[in-house]
Amino acid sequence: MLLKFFLVFFVLTSTSFALPGNGKHYSRDVSFKTSIREKLAGPPTGWVQDPSVNVDKNSMMSLRIHLVHQDMDKFHELAMNFYGSHLSQQVIDSMIAPKDESRNLVLQWLNIEGLGNYSSLSARADSIIVKASISQIEKLLNTEYSSFVRTDSGQSVVRTLEYSLPSVLKGHVDMVQPTTFFGLRPQRSGARIIKPNSFETENSNVAGCVGTTVTPECLSNLYGFATAKNYTNGLMGIAGFLEEYPSPSDLTKFMTTFMQGRMEHQTYSCIELHNGTAAGNTTCGISGVETGSKIIPDYSEANLDVQYTRAITKAIPNIYYSTAGRPPILGTGENTNEPYLDFLDVLLNLPSASLPNTISISYGDDESTVPLDYATTVCNLFAQLGARGVSILVASGDSGVGGSCLVNGKAQFTTAFPASCPWVTAVGGTTLATGQTKYNETAWDGSGGGFSEVFGRPSYQNATVNKWLVSDKTHQAVNLYFNQSGRAYPDVSAQSYGFQVVIGGSTETIYGTSCASPTFASIIQLLNSDRLASGKTGLGFLNPWLYSNATAGLTDITNGANSGCGGTIGSAGTTAGFQAVPGWDPATGLGTPNFQSLLKISSAT
Ligand SMILES: *[C@@H]1O[C@H](CO)[C@@H](O)[C@H](O)[C@H]1NC(C)=O
Ligand SMILES: *[C@@H]1O[C@H](CO)[C@@H](O)[C@H](O)[C@H]1NC(C)=O
Ligand SMILES: *[C@@H]1O[C@H](CO)[C@@H](O)[C@H](O)[C@H]1NC(C)=O
Ligand SMILES: *[C@@H]1O[C@H](CO)[C@@H](O)[C@H](O)[C@H]1NC(C)=O
Ligand SMILES: *[C@@H]1O[C@H](CO)[C@@H](O)[C@H](O)[C@H]1NC(C)=O
Ligand SMILES: *[C@@H]1O[C@H](CO)[C@@H](O)[C@H](O)[C@H]1NC(C)=O
Ligand SMILES: *[C@@H]1O[C@H](CO)[C@@H](O)[C@H](O)[C@H]1NC(C)=O
Ligand SMILES: *[C@@H]1O[C@H](CO)[C@@H](O)[C@H](O)[C@H]1NC(C)=O
Repeated sequence: MLLKFFLVFFVLTSTSFALPGNGKHYSRDVSFKTSIREKLAGPPTGWVQDPSVNVDKNSMMSLRIHLVHQDMDKFHELAMNFYGSHLSQQVIDSMIAPKDESRNLVLQWLNIEGLGNYSSLSARADSIIVKASISQIEKLLNTEYSSFVRTDSGQSVVRTLEYSLPSVLKGHVDMVQPTTFFGLRPQRSGARIIKPNSFETENSNVAGCVGTTVTPECLSNLYGFATAKNYTNGLMGIAGFLEEYPSPSDLTKFMTTFMQGRMEHQTYSCIELHNGTAAGNTTCGISGVETGSKIIPDYSEANLDVQYTRAITKAIPNIYYSTAGRPPILGTGENTNEPYLDFLDVLLNLPSASLPNTISISYGDDESTVPLDYATTVCNLFAQLGARGVSILVASGDSGVGGSCLVNGKAQFTTAFPASCPWVTAVGGTTLATGQTKYNETAWDGSGGGFSEVFGRPSYQNATVNKWLVSDKTHQAVNLYFNQSGRAYPDVSAQSYGFQVVIGGSTETIYGTSCASPTFASIIQLLNSDRLASGKTGLGFLNPWLYSNATAGLTDITNGANSGCGGTIGSAGTTAGFQAVPGWDPATGLGTPNFQSLLKISSAT
């Protein structure tokens, strides 16, 4: 889909030439003198340089040079107030397209650097993609790539701590990657096996829920969708990264075990966005084998996501977007490991009829490890996807208010991206208190929540969050750890503990907000399919609706808290976390879904 072009009109033969689209003239000796654009003091927390791996500098890399959009604020204002009707990508692009001058300057620079023939315009013409060897990219950016490894998972990437750009591109280029964004990990806690509490008994009010054990039947009774229609329209999307693949045979076994033999809806389609190991396989399937104690590579995230969306959305088509991407360490293949950008670019380039109505993303990173330009660019792409009519649900993180109470040497809670992006719906976690009444869910202590240090508070949650800031007294002891004017999250929550998932042929128990996101998203898809069936559009960007009309369709969670920093999940930590209190709170957001009630509200609008 990439548009190739060869820049014949930029060959520098005249002393001065006009760039198309603007009146300025540049002389041939225009200075592309570079200066350092970005410099990290060291790799982000959790990553270390891996000197044992020699990066093959001849291997190929796809470098994305993202151009500054115009009028993004104007677009944001429109998108925020566009509930129920959706924009086409052409309309969005015509509003925010980068200036011709920006594109032309970058192309001129690439041409001078001898990379014109390796450059192409991205499908929506807002990025220039340079496909070249790592050594060529190193020369272009005056940088050096090396291999870094995640200490917990062994995941490795090829990145750099600093790069340079021509000063003249300031105000024209806002992001160059892969360079300094390391990220992306599943929001699913590493530990698997949860020992059942000895006192657990069947919760008589919620059929299918035994103690804290969660199955599709349990969720269907708890959240009221057991009697939902068998919708067959619409499309439910699941984002998959890091070469995690769902296993079709595990899905079959899951349906047999947990869906009372309802075997008719055990299929999903799959789009492989890059050449991963399952490229060409129509199920993106692998045979589903655990590979020991490492979090990655394994397939529990993919299996969890597909098994629960498949079970909850019943007959609605599901699609798994597999964005592969691996580092070019071994010298084979291309470095396509720029996951969100590639994923969002492909989606935004689809015709509206091919877009999913809802998408669940169970991956994330500490916000502080995501370069600001990268976070802003990705968040703006989410805004566009929402305006196109896609409801986007993201796991809020699994570490309460986070690790060590220190971020870059400053006393601060740890926040999660992309949950902190105001254009997605962040889903926090709850758990079932044992032996209690039907709707007595409590906050799960791992539930990620807090205030963005990067994104300001959006208008849709301003009144609600201000109310909490004024009325909740419990947070005052920890005020110094968060920025009260940031985007607050989670927006909503759902069960996150004790999910039964089939992995490698056997049932395992999983916890994490990775459970909450596909659960909440699937319930939203039921609402979207219902709206589509009656000739309406899908709900699209959910948040303005959730904080107004739909609040009444959520069950407010008022017990429990997420864990503080300076401890481990389940311990109190050095600080307190945030309490679940009446109304919105940063442990459980507005609450958990009540499908029947949400259905009434969504079909009345
Ligand atoms: C770029 O490609 C064109 C067309 O294929 C070719 O004529 C030209 O020599 C190439 N330039 C370089 C610098 O490789
Ligand atoms: C949906 O399909 C299942 C199995 O085919 C059936 O048992 C159930 O009654 C159907 N639900 C509705 C609401 O029609
Ligand atoms: C995928 O691999 C095939 C064959 O190896 C290659 O022709 C194609 O260009 C690759 N596609 C991408 C997007 O890398
Ligand atoms: C596709 O995945 C399925 C499920 O694991 C596997 O059985 C099959 O061999 C794969 N096909 C190819 C062509 O890789
Ligand atoms: C709900 O559970 C909490 C403990 O998490 C308990 O303190 C509270 O009394 C319970 N409420 C009801 C109505 O059972
Ligand atoms: C708090 O967040 C706002 C909005 O994101 C930002 O403008 C401000 O600089 C932040 N303040 C501090 C002290 O970090
Ligand atoms: C947010 O709420 C505060 C206090 O209620 C108010 O002063 C401010 O103007 C509001 N901001 C926006 C953008 O609505
Ligand atoms: C809320 O409901 C009212 C009345 O049905 C409707 O006019 C309005 O557009 C809705 N607002 C949102 C944000 O859903």
